[in-house]
Amino acid sequence: MEITKTDRIFLSDYKPSDYKIDDVFLTFKLHPSKTIVISKMTIVPIKKSNLFLNGIKLKLKDVKINGSSSISLTKVHDEGISFEASDLPDKAFSIEITTEINPQANTSLEGLYLSNGMYCTQCEAEGFRKITYYLDRPDIMAKFKVRVESKHPTKLSNGNQIDEGEGWAVWDDPWPKPSYLFALVAGDLLSFDDYFVTRSGKEVVLKIWVRKEDINKCAFAMDALKRSMLWDEVNYGREYDLSIFQIVAVDDFNMGAMENKGLNIFNSKYVLASPETATDNDYKLIEGIIAHEYFHNWTGNRITCRDWFQLSLKEGLTVFRDQQFSADQRGSGIKRINDVIQLRNRQFEEDNGPLSHPVRPSEYKEINNFYTATIYEKGAELINMLHKLVGPKAYKETLDLYFERHDGEACTIEDWIKVFEDNNEIDLKQFKLWYEQAGTPIVTVQESFKNSQYTLKLKQTLNNKNNEPMLIPISVGLLNKKGEEVLETNLLTLSEREQEFTFNNIKTKPIPSILRDFSAPVIINYKTTDEQNAFLLQYDTNEFNKWEAGQKLARSSIIQTILEGKPIDGLFANSIKKVISNKSLEPGYKAVLLKLPTQDSLTDDLIKLGETPDPLEIHKALIKTEIGCAEILKDDFVKLFKELKTMNNQSSDMADSGKRDLHSALLKLNTYNDGGELAFSRYNQAKSMTDLQSAFISLMTTDFRKEIISKFYDTWKHDKLVIDKWFSLQSINCDPQYALESAIDLSMHQDFNYKNPNRFRSLIGSFCAGNPAGFHVISGKGYKFAADWIIKQDKINPQTAARLCAVFQSWKKYDKTRQNT
Ligand code: PHE
Ligand code: ZN
Repeated sequence: MEITKTDRIFLSDYKPSDYKIDDVFLTFKLHPSKTIVISKMTIVPIKKSNLFLNGIKLKLKDVKINGSSSISLTKVHDEGISFEASDLPDKAFSIEITTEINPQANTSLEGLYLSNGMYCTQCEAEGFRKITYYLDRPDIMAKFKVRVESKHPTKLSNGNQIDEGEGWAVWDDPWPKPSYLFALVAGDLLSFDDYFVTRSGKEVVLKIWVRKEDINKCAFAMDALKRSMLWDEVNYGREYDLSIFQIVAVDDFNMGAMENKGLNIFNSKYVLASPETATDNDYKLIEGIIAHEYFHNWTGNRITCRDWFQLSLKEGLTVFRDQQFSADQRGSGIKRINDVIQLRNRQFEEDNGPLSHPVRPSEYKEINNFYTATIYEKGAELINMLHKLVGPKAYKETLDLYFERHDGEACTIEDWIKVFEDNNEIDLKQFKLWYEQAGTPIVTVQESFKNSQYTLKLKQTLNNKNNEPMLIPISVGLLNKKGEEVLETNLLTLSEREQEFTFNNIKTKPIPSILRDFSAPVIINYKTTDEQNAFLLQYDTNEFNKWEAGQKLARSSIIQTILEGKPIDGLFANSIKKVISNKSLEPGYKAVLLKLPTQDSLTDDLIKLGETPDPLEIHKALIKTEIGCAEILKDDFVKLFKELKTMNNQSSDMADSGKRDLHSALLKLNTYNDGGELAFSRYNQAKSMTDLQSAFISLMTTDFRKEIISKFYDTWKHDKLVIDKWFSLQSINCDPQYALESAIDLSMHQDFNYKNPNRFRSLIGSFCAGNPAGFHVISGKGYKFAADWIIKQDKINPQTAARLCAVFQSWKKYDKTRQNT
């Protein structure tokens, strides 16, 4: 959205810098509207050329080169300053630049800004140039020393504090780093403290900085941090490398969090938690994001990116690592299912629309718009495939080599691939296509069975074009009619456009379980019958594919409801009942199996059938299906609720979170039978946000709606993060017929403040992405509502505006009427 540069930037134009910066000493004299920044750097010429330093919206006050005033040699441009080569010394020289900036006027939340009176910074990707003139590119790695002058008691920067006095503090980071990892914070904060002893015996001080009133909401994040530190030692051999690690929670933040060296800055939503204010799902997100940012210390900070085209080098790998961590902490099956739901919702959508781009793009206009599901989530899938292809042992050795070979460097995808090739003596030229070609491959499956020989014929296509075939790992298992596994999971490596895989000594025609654990980010095109899916739902040993089969069965039933008005399909209904009564399945897994397919997946099914999807009809069919499920389970509810008696069991250790998930799912269904009576009483007894929220959601489509909305507000109006939920839960769960009206009303509520990204997303984002039938309303007014807000947001915060544009990716799928407004 922010098109500050009209020119495109090309990977092929990359050139190493003619200058490097060895060290920087920054002094900040903090002031809300007139902050003075003095930057004293040692610059080393590598090649004689003009020097250009990036800088945006800075007031240049003074320049000294080797101590003598040089402002007359400085040319000032819109996006930086420059010096003639002939005016610069031939050897290393010092340059001291003084600038003035206005944090208070900075609404973009990039560079140095104020959040509720607290100074903080955000420099990735190109925010440092809004602070001072610099070679603001990730391959320039320098040692930073920072002096913070402010009347605020808390004054922080990267690394270790080495000195302090009345109104000032000095920080020193011994590790060279790119400017995007710089951070500074000043405010009136308290720290929640702990420590961690590394495996080599070094003690690391851990601090989470928050406002006074939030100090009792830090314990879980701290625990997650310590588990992350241990996990990275055990699984990747990575030890922390400073004697202090700090996290700061801020209310105004564009993204989830930022991995600044030794001083992570977090959106407060992903730090603060107490059972009364955070749900089980919030706990999971906090744990995952704390791990993600911590893991960046090695994959991102110690080994960084040469240029922003390589963004997935750090992000894809770090997402993969945080996924592994969460799977280890909480079980891999459900984690994998939820990750794939996300991937399909966001990344597959992206790859199928106008914003489709490769994991390693070759050009961009605005790097801020490349923090996408493709770079992050598809990037992580590519690491997952490498992990599968070489196996866990070789993967570990390969990563050891990666750290050994590239520690302290700014690297490329080529460096990464080369490490895998060298360690495993393989050629990954074909695999590398995954980084270069956009789009989701389709793998078509045909099977045949003759003389105890079972053959799978796999054919790959990409974007309907004659692309070069990719290397696709496909996990397959085979079951016989009795539900026994006759072939355990086998990894097939599809490398040709069309390839046959034959299995011998198979006595009867088997039922295949294809793409177990979602071994590759592809779409499998294989016609299965409802009977086959019901069979796999019952017998498949692979948690992912078992769920996948259930989803297919559900989709087929719902599609029949949409097209033929049929009620819930008998086979599907039966399977639901079986799942619920199956004693060998975990409650949390049952909750996942019970989740109905997304509106998007049904939309795509209808398009495949040549139908024009109507969002409201899809929604109605989903409700009809829920009613059907409620009817089938009617007699079981009392018993089920008794079994799940976990109410008010508030535990952040998640031991019972699966039970609570199942409880929530059933409570919602139960409202179709009792009009919300039980949910209402649950609401009134709830002691944890998990229970409160699940009752609140259940009541959104009952007569208790209005009452519960105002009750919730009255209880929680003092708590920003909980009021974010209040906005978002209403937007998502409102009956689509009134959803737009309700969203418009909420946008006029006194607590709606579009300048806070969390609040903006909790209303506008939740409505657009979470209430598809409301957003895609036939009048087109949902689009207008969203577009107006995006335009308004773009004026103050282009990054937050741009991220919401993703909601417009799918509108072409629906009929023309709604598009014409
Ligand atoms: N690098 C951050 C992460 O992945 C994300 C981020 C990007 C945050 C840009 C702020 C700005 O953890
Ligand atoms: Zn990241």
